[in-house]
Amino acid sequence: MPTTRISARVFAISESATLAVDAKAKALKAAGRPVIGFGAGEPDFPTPGYIVEAAQRAAAEPRFHKYTPAGGLPELKQAIVDKTLRDSGYQVSADQVLVTNGGKQAVYQTFATLLDEGDEAIVPAPYWTTYPEAIALAGGKTVQVDTDETSGYLATVDQLEAARTDRTKLLLFVSPSNPTGAVYSPEQVKAIGEWAASRGIWVVTDEIYEHLVYGDATFSSIPVQTPQIADQTVVLNGVAKTYAMTGWRVGWMIGPKDVIKAATNLQSHATSNVANVSQAAALAAVTGDLTAVEEMKKAFDRRRKTIVRMLNEIPGVSCPEPQGAFYAYPSVKGVLGREIRGQRPQTSSELASLILEQAEVAVVPGEAFGTQGYFRLSYAMADADIEEGVGRIGKLLSEAK
Ligand SMILES: Cc1ncc(COP(=O)(O)O)c(C=O)c1O
Repeated sequence: MPTTRISARVFAISESATLAVDAKAKALKAAGRPVIGFGAGEPDFPTPGYIVEAAQRAAAEPRFHKYTPAGGLPELKQAIVDKTLRDSGYQVSADQVLVTNGGKQAVYQTFATLLDEGDEAIVPAPYWTTYPEAIALAGGKTVQVDTDETSGYLATVDQLEAARTDRTKLLLFVSPSNPTGAVYSPEQVKAIGEWAASRGIWVVTDEIYEHLVYGDATFSSIPVQTPQIADQTVVLNGVAKTYAMTGWRVGWMIGPKDVIKAATNLQSHATSNVANVSQAAALAAVTGDLTAVEEMKKAFDRRRKTIVRMLNEIPGVSCPEPQGAFYAYPSVKGVLGREIRGQRPQTSSELASLILEQAEVAVVPGEAFGTQGYFRLSYAMADADIEEGVGRIGKLLSEAK
C-alpha cells in the first residue's frame, strides 16, 4: 500500500530478513521455547582480549572524546593500507581508504557514490539481502544473474555478459559469498576482472570473508588478479567477521582517490567519524596477527563438515560443500509441495515457517537472497546446537509424504 507519510524511496525498503528471523528466534527463546537459530551471520566467539584492552585504553584518552577526521583516524587508515598489502597483496595509499560504520555503511556509500538514476548493477544471486536495497536507495537497478547448486553457485563470464546492457555501471563481486559460501578460484577471478575491464564496467568487491576459506580454496582479490581494473574498483571490508567484532561497527572502503574523496564528503554529512574507541579496537585488530581467526576457522571448518553431511542425509535436501564464510545454502526443492503434518509448503518461505513452528528451528528462506527453494543456515554456532538443530529438521522433513 503506497503511503504519503513515508517517502517512496524508503517505503520500498523491506526489513532485513536475516535480522527478522534472528529476532523471531530470540523472542521465542526469551518466551522459554527451546529454539535453535541458524539465522544470525556472526561468529559465536567473543572479541579477542587484546582488542578489547586497546578499546579500554582508548576510552580513557581525552583526544578520543572529541571529533576526529570524518574519513577515519590517520593511524587506522595507514594500518588498513598495510593490512591490505599483507593479506591480499593489493598496494594502495591512505588517501584511498575511508573508514566506515561497519561494512554496511561501506556498501551504502559505495552505491550512493557510483550510481546515477537508472544505472544498472549486475548482482549474482543468491546475494546478501542488503545489496539490492542499497542499490535501489541510490537510484540504481539490480540486474540479477541467477546461479544454483549445480555450479556451486558460481557465475560465469558468459552469464555476466548476457546481463550487460548500455546502462550497466558496475558488477558486484563477492567471494567468499554470503549466503552460499562459494569461493571463486584465482583463474575465475582473473577472467571476471578482465571481462569487466574490457567492457569498462566498475567492480564493487566485498572481501569481508577473505580469511574464512577452507580446504583447497584460496581467496584472491580482483584488482590484484587484474591490475588494469584497479582504477574502477571499490573494495569493501571490515573487522566484523575476521575478529568476531560485529558489534563494534568498523568497516572500510578502498577505491580510487576521487571516489574516496566523494564518499568521504558524503560520510562527513551523514555520520562524521566512526566512534573513536571502535577505531582504536580495529587498529589493534588489523595490526595484530591472525592467530584468533585461525582458531575460529578451525572450529568453523569442523562445523561446516558436520552441517553439510547432516543436511545431505535429509531426503529432498541437497547442499554443495561451501568453501568459505560460515554459511550452508542447501536446496530444499525436493521437499516442496509434499505433505508434512497436514501442511503442504509450496515455497522455501512456507517451509521455513513450518520448521520454526513444528521443530522450533529458525532458518532463513532463500527468498531473502533472491532465490526461492533454498535455506541459509549459519554454522557460526556451538557444535551441539548444529547437531540438534539439523537433527530436528531432518526428523520433521523425513515425515514428508
Ligand atoms: C557479505 C557481507 N558484507 C558486509 C557485511 C557487513 O558487515 P558489518 O556491517 O557488520 O561490518 C556482511 C554482514 O553480514 C556481509 O555478510
